[in-house]
Amino acid sequence: MENFIFQSPTQFVFGRATEEQVGALVKAHGGTKVLLVYGQGSVVRSGLIDRVRRSLSKAEIPFVEMGQVMPNPTDEKVYEGIDLCRREGADFLLPVGGGSVIDCAKAIAAGVPYDGDFWDFFEGKTIPTALPVGVVLTIPAAGSEGSGNSVITKAALQKKISIRAPHVLRPRFAVMNPELTFTLPPYQTACGVVDMMAHIQERYFNNTPATQVTDCLSEALLRTIAELAPKVMAVPDDYDARANLEWCGTLAHNGLCGVGVAEDWASHAMEHELSALYGVAHGAGLAVVFPAWLTWMAHHNPRKVKQWAENVWHVDSSGLTELETCLEGISRYKDFLHSIGMPTTLGELGIENPDISLLSSRLHEHKGPTVGTYVPLGPADSREIYQLAQG
Ligand code: NZQ
Ligand code: ZN
Repeated sequence: MENFIFQSPTQFVFGRATEEQVGALVKAHGGTKVLLVYGQGSVVRSGLIDRVRRSLSKAEIPFVEMGQVMPNPTDEKVYEGIDLCRREGADFLLPVGGGSVIDCAKAIAAGVPYDGDFWDFFEGKTIPTALPVGVVLTIPAAGSEGSGNSVITKAALQKKISIRAPHVLRPRFAVMNPELTFTLPPYQTACGVVDMMAHIQERYFNNTPATQVTDCLSEALLRTIAELAPKVMAVPDDYDARANLEWCGTLAHNGLCGVGVAEDWASHAMEHELSALYGVAHGAGLAVVFPAWLTWMAHHNPRKVKQWAENVWHVDSSGLTELETCLEGISRYKDFLHSIGMPTTLGELGIENPDISLLSSRLHEHKGPTVGTYVPLGPADSREIYQLAQG
């Protein structure tokens, strides 16, 4: 096990009707004027945004609003939010939505106090400070409600970059009412499931010795998600299944599953190129990239893949070679993904003629000569994995 610092300071306010506390929470965390940020209409249609407005008014917190943040948020919306925040003197960001809305709000929060271009943070030129952010979550998926990350696409360059600045970007609070997720379309529910599993797997596949606690936590979360996913797909308003799944999504990405290990993140880097170039949903992209990455790893570094096959997918390895055990686990993972309506090949994702060379060259141009740590991947390796993703 490696040395670690684990700090998860977000106050999670979880359960039915918790959105009614949001005004009081903003006040308790020092906000005096809010920029309310939301997406393309789901929170308006559900009536949630009205309940949030009422709660802010009740707490006598003035607010201004910015809607129409789109999935895979772009820099344009961040600039708009920074201008609005400065003009209106807002000192607290309140995103109501999923990862896209939260990440846009985090980037605005970092951009407001900065003299230069906020994109400097995403180019690694400087480290941000930020206004405080509180969250009302509507989709368990990206884990941004508990993470110190923000992922933004520079539209003109089709460049999607993740920054990690936990000291300033972790939300002060996250309101999580599982009932808010009942309205999710099945496709978005499934994308969320894939993403939260991926967040655990990006940390689980490591070469660090003696990581028993973190491994066991990760395996238990993965098994729990695999068990709950079909339940919420079948009965979207099953409160207890939705609630457990939502908490899994937070634990998957608040750092707990990365304690004491060297994390990988190659699959996310490879997926971000797919969503930047082809506009696919992040979770659906991961459903295609992760099985391909695992298949490649089964041949190049099978140790943890075998453990995952046995402990998550219940593969009985007696009588099987190490490779056969790994491949059986991957096959069960793909069956699971198909069972919740996810693609597992680029073709099924709707990308009929992927430009593999371009994907791979952009990956290394944006993320460095190698990506990942489980086996660091150079350009020839990442090309092979994108090829495997063709099925
Ligand atoms: O825009 P609206 O109308 O709100 O619709 C959204 C959107 O179309 C809809 N939705 C959300 N909650 C809903 C709902 N529809 C009905 N009922 C509800 N309760 O779902 C769609 C997807 O929303 P989005 O916010 O894009 O989903 P997600 O949470 O998966 O976020 C994806 C983004 O997060 C980034 C991804 O790359 C992507 O840009 N990530 C952020 C991370 C982080 N900050 O730590 C880590 C992740 O690995 C990820 O990269
Ligand atoms: Zn993700």
